Amino acid sequence: MRSEEKLMAGEYLIGIDIGTSGCKSILIDGEGKVIGYSLQEYPLLSPRPGWTEQDPADWWKAVQVSVWRLLRKTGISSNAVKCLGLSGQMHGLVALDKDCQVLRPAILWNDQRSMVQCQRIHEIVGGIPRLLELTNNQMLPGYTGGKILWMREQEPKLYKRTRLFLNPKDYIRYVLTGEFATEVSDASGTGLFDVRQRRWCDQLLTLLNIPIERLPRCFESPEITGRITKRASEVTGLPVGLPVVGGGGDAVIQTTGMGLVKPGILGITIGTAGIVAMGLDRFHPNADGRLQIFCNNSPGTWHVMGVTLAAGGSYRWFRDALCEVEKEKARQMGQEVYQIMEEIASAAPAGSRGLIFLPYLIGERCPYSDPAARGGFIGLSLQHGRPEITRAILEGVVFSLRDVFELINTMESSVKEIRTSGGGSLSSLWRQIQADVFQCPVITVSGSREGGAYGAALVAGIGVGIWKSVNEAVKVLKIETETIPDPRNKEVYEKLYGVYHGLYKTLKPSFDAIAQSQRQEISFHTTKEKTDELC
Ligand code: XUL
Repeated sequence: MRSEEKLMAGEYLIGIDIGTSGCKSILIDGEGKVIGYSLQEYPLLSPRPGWTEQDPADWWKAVQVSVWRLLRKTGISSNAVKCLGLSGQMHGLVALDKDCQVLRPAILWNDQRSMVQCQRIHEIVGGIPRLLELTNNQMLPGYTGGKILWMREQEPKLYKRTRLFLNPKDYIRYVLTGEFATEVSDASGTGLFDVRQRRWCDQLLTLLNIPIERLPRCFESPEITGRITKRASEVTGLPVGLPVVGGGGDAVIQTTGMGLVKPGILGITIGTAGIVAMGLDRFHPNADGRLQIFCNNSPGTWHVMGVTLAAGGSYRWFRDALCEVEKEKARQMGQEVYQIMEEIASAAPAGSRGLIFLPYLIGERCPYSDPAARGGFIGLSLQHGRPEITRAILEGVVFSLRDVFELINTMESSVKEIRTSGGGSLSSLWRQIQADVFQCPVITVSGSREGGAYGAALVAGIGVGIWKSVNEAVKVLKIETETIPDPRNKEVYEKLYGVYHGLYKTLKPSFDAIAQSQRQEISFHTTKEKTDELC
């Protein structure tokens, strides 16, 4: 890189995010301005209830299409791109054989099959507190470590043939550069990483009998991990030799792209899941393991977050299950259905006249790690109609985010500002509800709409010396909206949040009873199907 360490006019950085629904590629300039983006979707496979998989070949095809399209759309010569950063869905498992061929479909972050193996890992290690000493995180069902054990137990032949386990974005790194590498933020999410020391946890790997040679070499996020090969150049249009930096796991690197680099700024991302996060400038022990504390994208910094599983997902469920009328109206008026739903919700007062929504539609991860938890409306009465029900969903999701925040607050209690991103941040009503429930200003910044891809492009810039550090890089971010809390809504939300917070514990026995009855029903149907087949 030149000594003046600046992108010249007409030079760019590229960020690629291997998301759950598609691959997003973006180009930014030296001012952090998004010059163009391109999204290519791929299917999500669910071969059994609770299983989620994807074909890594689909990711690779989507990378090729989205990068070609991005370069063509923007009209930018590929030689003007100076570095590439990768972001990707975390915790996934890609298994490669000795010829570097994919052995089975990738198992994703939201797959529930390895519950038993995660419990076994806790037992092997000597309990959750001991695992927290080793890695600083519990082995949550989505994490890579449990999946490796699942494969060893359930697919022993394939397991024996496995030469390497990779996370999704690191598989793409391999096809782009020929290198087997990861970086500290995604490695943290495997559950096999010593987050304090920022290296694979030898002790845990020995206890679990996972050879360290089966895991990729680990870098810091801005380090250059490899360069685009001739073969990858031919199919993507990217120049041969383009440096590729470590990048980051999406949930971490998207908060870097939002400027969450130090305590005091809380990040709230409302996508399918809801992520409440904060940057940490020192290592924090994960007291009871309910939060996720990972390495951050800047060396010597960490990241804390808690994930609620159905945030935007709850609102989308409501749209698809019960908003046919709104959908039809949107079609007729050429509007977004969410715009119409927001108008309806705005007709209800803050607090939805005492109606509370619990967003545990697919179980919960934080603050309760409980696959059996279920959603519900509590307090429903004759005075409630569509406006209250719609608004209660938006409010219930924010209450669940506040539950996570209350945990983070016990570690770092100096929140002065909330930065929000994800699809949910596009709704002014949802931003106002966040400001009112937290009684804190809520802002959106440039680039945050692009999620992990934007953070990855910034980190790429650090890798080639355009910015000296993450702190320098995030100075390019510009405030786009600011929502001020309405003090008149403080009391109603404080009271309702108190009620909401108590509901999980009260309803827990009912959730378990429902889960039990469902298990019986499933086993009844399976037995019946088998009997029918025999007959
Ligand atoms: C983070 C998490 C998700 C996935 C998918 O812990 O599970 O954010 O990374 O995006």
